[in-house]
Formats: sequence, C-alpha cells, structure tokens
Amino acid sequence: MKQEQYRNVKPVFDTHKPQVFIETYGCQMNVNDSEVVLSILQDAGYSLCNEMTNADIILINTCSIRDNAEQRVLGRLEVFRQEKKKKKRLVIGVLGCMAERMKDSLFETNTVDIVAGPDAYRDLPKLIAAVASDGRQINTILSHEETYADISPVRMDSNGVSAYISIMRGCNNVCSYCVVPYTRGAERSRDPQSIIREAKELFSNGYKEVNLLGQNVDSYLWVDRDNPTKTVNFAQLLELVALISPQLRVRFSTSHPKDMGNGVLYTMAMYSNICNHIHLPVQSGSTVMLDRMNRKYTREGYLERIAKIREILPDCAITTDVIAGFCGETQEDHDQTISLFKEVRFDGAFMFMYSERPNTKAARQFKDDVSVEVKTARLTEIIDLQNEISLERNRESIGKIYEVLIEGTSKRSADEMVGRNQQNKMCVFAAEGHHAGEYVMVEVTSCSSATLHAKIVEN
Ligand code: SAH
Ligand code: SF4
Ligand code: F3S
Repeated sequence: MKQEQYRNVKPVFDTHKPQVFIETYGCQMNVNDSEVVLSILQDAGYSLCNEMTNADIILINTCSIRDNAEQRVLGRLEVFRQEKKKKKRLVIGVLGCMAERMKDSLFETNTVDIVAGPDAYRDLPKLIAAVASDGRQINTILSHEETYADISPVRMDSNGVSAYISIMRGCNNVCSYCVVPYTRGAERSRDPQSIIREAKELFSNGYKEVNLLGQNVDSYLWVDRDNPTKTVNFAQLLELVALISPQLRVRFSTSHPKDMGNGVLYTMAMYSNICNHIHLPVQSGSTVMLDRMNRKYTREGYLERIAKIREILPDCAITTDVIAGFCGETQEDHDQTISLFKEVRFDGAFMFMYSERPNTKAARQFKDDVSVEVKTARLTEIIDLQNEISLERNRESIGKIYEVLIEGTSKRSADEMVGRNQQNKMCVFAAEGHHAGEYVMVEVTSCSSATLHAKIVEN
C-alpha cells in the first residue's frame, strides 16, 4: 500500500468546486470514516459544503445497528428526495453499514444514485463521476485488507483538540444479535507505523488527545508481512502511541471482556497519559443470555475482569453497553442484569432495547419473544438505576482534583469552558485566560448525573 507522509488537511470550502454535503450517523468509526471520505473527495477536486441546499452531492453515512437507526436514515432520504425534485442533477449517495446491508434495494427509494459500502470509499470519485453518464452506481465489495492506512482523514467538526484514529476495521466475533460483522466484514489491523505517523502529525498540529478506535481493540494484531515473527499487539500499540509525548492523551474504544488481558491494564498503569477509562460492554448480567448472545464470557468472567481493572487501576472509570429484552430473556435474567449493575456501579452506560437485525444468528435461530412492553419496562428500570448510580459516582468526585484537557467554550455559557478528565467525565468551569488544548487542574465543586462542575485550582 502507498505510504504517504501525513498531512493535516483541513476542510476546503471552495464554491468554484463541486459541493459535497456529508451527514453521518452511527458510531465513532463512522465519524472517522466520513473524514476519510472527505479526504478522498477533496483530493479528487470536491469541496465540502455546510448547507444541504448548496450541495451538488449529498452523502449520508449510515448505521444499521438497530432498526430505529435505519428508520432515521430512511426519513432523511425522504428529505433528500424533496431536495432532488428542486435540483435535478443532485447526486445522492448512501455510504456505510446500511449501504452494505441493503445493497441495491436502496435504489427502490427512487432517491439514491450511489450505494457504497465501508470498504468502497476509494472508489467514490469514480462512482460520482459515472452517475451523469451511466446512472446508478454501486460498490459493496468488502475487503480483507483495506484499512485506509495511507489516507489522512480531514477532520470536519473537530474541536482541534481531540481526534479519532481507526486502528482496525471489521469484526471477527459473531455476537448473535449483531449486524456489524456483516456490514463491516472481517477484522483487519492497520499498520502500526501508519497509526503512529497519524498520531504524531495530529500532535504536531496542536491536537492533544487521540482516541484509538476498533470494534474490539483487544484483538488488534499487526503481523509484519515480510517477517511474520514481528508482531504488534494492542498493549504494545498503546505504548507506542503513549510514548509520542506525555502531553498527548490516549483513549481507546471498544474493549471486549473476553479479550481484554492484563497486559493492557499494566500498560495503562505505566503511562499517565493513557486515560483511566475503559468501555467494557457487558450486554447482559445473565450467563444464559451471554451464551445465547455468543459473547464467550460468563457473568463471573466479566466480574473478574472488573475486579482486575480495579486492582491494577483503582482510579479507572468503567462504562458499558447493555441490551434489554434479548431473545428468551426471563425476569430472572433481567434481575441478573440489574444486580450486576448494582454490583459494578458503572460510571456510565449506553442502554438499548434489543432490535432484531435481519440475517443475524439471533434472527435465524431465536424468537424475538420479549414483548415491546416488557422490553420497555426493563430498559426503563436499567436506565433509572444507572442514572442514580452515575449521580452517586459523580457525587463521590466532589472535592477531588482532576487534570482536565480543555476542549472549548461551553455551549450554555460563554464564560465557561468544558473539558474532560481522564475518566471521560465532562467538566464545566470558569477558565478566564485559558484556551482549548490546555491542561488545567480542577477541583469538583458540584455535579449532575452527566456533568461535573468545577473550579481551576492550579496550572
Ligand atoms: N464492538 C462493540 C459494540 C458495537 S455496537 C462491542 O462488541 O461491544 C454498540 C452496541 O450496540 C453494542 O455494544 C450493543 O450493546 C448494541 N447493539 C448491537 N446490536 C444490537 C441489537 N441488535 N439490538 C440492540 N442493541 C444492539
Ligand atoms: Fe458486534 Fe460483537 Fe463485533 Fe461488537 S464484538 S461489533 S457486538 S459482533
Ligand atoms: Fe452502526 Fe456500523 Fe457503527 S452498524 S454502530 S455504523 S459499525
């Protein structure tokens, strides 16, 4: 693969060039993919535009994880269809996971000109150019190699402080409920040298935090093609990135309970710039459900990982994902999730209702047999409990001192700034004379379940 020097390319707004409008749904990986897409299109002579109404090309980068994510995008396509009525030559492209999952059936909306899956973005300039002469274009071929390693993502909505770096693509786990292995293909790890180069380039351009992304970062493994005995695992990669500068914070997501070894925890303990936060999705507190979900760990195994994190990294925040109402979930299984949440006391959680995804293992083998009413009640119970715990946990921070990386001015008040501590908690504080990208020490004075209010104590 071509290895270019990383360039800090900023969005180009040039009204003389064809205008492309990009809208992004889904996970952090999709946000980063849109930055890759913009990079490819800018190189091909296109310019970003901020208003849909000025666009020559509208691209929507989509998510298939739950039905409601897809419904939202279908709703947007209806809006684009109206836009197309006004502007006959408007080109509309669907990118990402829905493109991969739905393929040419997306053309049935009579809105879409281009369907491009997550591994087809290098092809976009060609696809766009071909629409005028040849009509609808599609590329949903998944790759075993594509990592876009040589492409410098163009940071679109960046605060100039924190940036995503994708370290791998795809997923080799087959959690029975999940569509990602089908929409993103097989797992592949990106060349560590290209990751380090990108991180260094970001740092030299003023960024102070990189967030390393993968569906399962713990299974990151780079094998040197010329010398297969030379490998880099995730703990080693973390260390390489941490060594760039003590002033560059390192975050990562997502960890998998079955793969997160102690090596990663010890590496985190060794480098103070690797943030004390682990996102460790549990999905359910019931071993029966975990088995049916094909998660490859038990409740006890998960709790053992939590105990190990707390032993090695006492200040580490732990967050999670959970699914309420998976196939066959009994009241007893649900109670196990509730008890696990009470036992672990997560710092935060993303909580979802099970949504059956076509062609997944769960859709083929199990009945989606928990009623919407019961799913809703269980999800509400989990959310209420977690909100209480988040608030309690935040209260425990009152009086404590944290290092915060300032991200910018608060949206609520121009007199206040916002930034995160290592534990990924959003802090709000008066910061006269300080600016984004600076580290400050703050003392927490009060809180809500989502935010810490603080004051600066020293520089
Ligand atoms: N790779 C990450 C998660 C990716 S998807 C991991 O393995 O943890 C993000 C979250 O969406 C998942 O953790 C899960 O909680 C949720 N999710 C995935 N498929 C879902 C489905 N069919 N219904 C409801 N939630 C789902
Ligand atoms: Fe989906 Fe499981 Fe892969 Fe996460 S690890 S993306 S939940 S299949
Ligand atoms: Fe959604 Fe695809 Fe990410 S399904 S969560 S955009 S990997």
